Amino acid sequence: MLIEYDVVIVGSGGAGLYAALEASGAGKTAVITKLYPQRSHTGAAQGGIGAALCNVEKDRPEWHAFDTVKGGDYLVDQNAAFILADDAPRAVYDLENRGLPFNRTPEGKIDQRRFGGHTREFGAAAVRRSCYAADRTGHMILQTLYQQCIKNNVVFHYEWQVIDVLLEGTRLTGLIVLELSTGELHHVRAKSALFATGGFGRMFKVTSNAIANTGDGPALLSRAGVPLMDMEFFQFHPTGIRNMGILITEGVRGEGGILLNRNGERFMQRYAPTLMDLAPRDMVSRAIMTEINAGNGIRGDKKMDDWVNLDASHLGRETVETKIPDIADFCRTYLGVDPAVEAMPVQPTAHYAMGGIPTDIDGRVTDGKRIWEGLYSAGECACVSVHGANRLGTNSLVELLVFGRRAGQSMANFACGSEAAKPSSDAEYKIKHWRKRIAKLKEGGRHSGSIYESMKKTMTANVGVYRNGKSMEKAIEDITKLRNTYSEIGGQDRDVNFNSEISSILELENLLDLALHTTSAALVRTESRGAHSREDYPDRDDDKWLKHTLSYLDGDSIRLDSKQVDVSKWEPKPRLY
Ligand code: FUM
Repeated sequence: MLIEYDVVIVGSGGAGLYAALEASGAGKTAVITKLYPQRSHTGAAQGGIGAALCNVEKDRPEWHAFDTVKGGDYLVDQNAAFILADDAPRAVYDLENRGLPFNRTPEGKIDQRRFGGHTREFGAAAVRRSCYAADRTGHMILQTLYQQCIKNNVVFHYEWQVIDVLLEGTRLTGLIVLELSTGELHHVRAKSALFATGGFGRMFKVTSNAIANTGDGPALLSRAGVPLMDMEFFQFHPTGIRNMGILITEGVRGEGGILLNRNGERFMQRYAPTLMDLAPRDMVSRAIMTEINAGNGIRGDKKMDDWVNLDASHLGRETVETKIPDIADFCRTYLGVDPAVEAMPVQPTAHYAMGGIPTDIDGRVTDGKRIWEGLYSAGECACVSVHGANRLGTNSLVELLVFGRRAGQSMANFACGSEAAKPSSDAEYKIKHWRKRIAKLKEGGRHSGSIYESMKKTMTANVGVYRNGKSMEKAIEDITKLRNTYSEIGGQDRDVNFNSEISSILELENLLDLALHTTSAALVRTESRGAHSREDYPDRDDDKWLKHTLSYLDGDSIRLDSKQVDVSKWEPKPRLY
């Protein structure tokens, strides 16, 4: 079926919904999502939205921008960090006005709590900056924005998976979409399309990411010739539930929870004497792994299964039940542990991709030299870049609100100023290609499960919190082999309706491509910076590496290029906390 819109948003997380809301006044706007909006991964963001509201103590957007730049180990584009911090209070009040039920101070203002790396006066001490709704902040954002989109006549296509992008040169013309409930293929023609498909943490074994986080947007665009930026920087959140990876919010430490090793020692005081448990995530994750590698972890069956304890029991039951009720439930359900009386077993979990589709500050896809007309991206799958080498907690929600909105406004202007969507010369050919490919997959073949498992295993073992040249060479060798065997995969399920096996085989291809991007970019960057921590190059090397990486998929390998970092305000300095 051929369907036509002015604006199409791919993905229904916070960035996609905010963009849709902003664009909806300018023309026929649709959201295409392989899920239901309420199930998008924004819903898993627990701890809050960083914004210098000054509701509980003195704060300034400039301090927030500085923390963002320093937290990102100076690979952040500083002009973008200023926009992020300046616009964050507006975004929070906008959500409040649209109905988001934030926690309140006794005076009725939006309450704020501490989060890792957020400080007052350029690093003097931790500041209460995170605006939160218990530990369900992301969930509340989704509910609020989805309702607003419905009110503003945004059309939703649920359980539609985008499988290809149509470009005439660098001009977007449309998308190819698989409707999961019927197996039908659609050609969606649009003046502009925004990719807001979220992260790709499913390439790792232990991850906080939902099953759907398979990097569809970056992978499709990369196959269409768009470079990806800073893919070597993947964040490991320090506190995932042991073995399962489910997120235990940093808000626990923001409320006063502490990390302890097997000797009951508050080890963070040795690694970050000022901020301790509230140091940035890359530092806390490294500290946990260093403790575990030194035998100070709490012993599991294998070394990789060791963990440390996160203790919030001294906060008392009332704080636990009112400030972190969901994670208390997770711990009781999955571990039989009650955080109000005992410590939670935690270990680092693959959490967030700092890299992704390169954009300008209005969400337009660009490699710094050219702009892909009509093509936009925002949220985790984009790289604007406000996170640099390591994202601060809460800044993902700020980013998707601030830059999702800006992208939506930019798309609205574009829709008003441009003629009807252009026909695509290869739409018919591509539809035929996909029909054939899906039919072939249904003829059967090798099961995808072992390839999926091998990818996760090699990424976790070789491209984790710590990596080195040898381990990454091994990962590239493994991923290359897995990409070569991908063509042997076939489905066992012949159904037309809701054939989720076909859908996940296509997702696996996306993950494999992104794993190759991640590992190739990481191998070439011979320094340690933020979340990219190399045992063989332990120091940051600003002379050689104060630059963004651009990676292009070139058949079986990755071609690398670079892009300048905006350092217009603060000179890079060593990171001490
Ligand atoms: O720890 C957390 O609540 C996660 C927040 C984030 O990733 O920003």
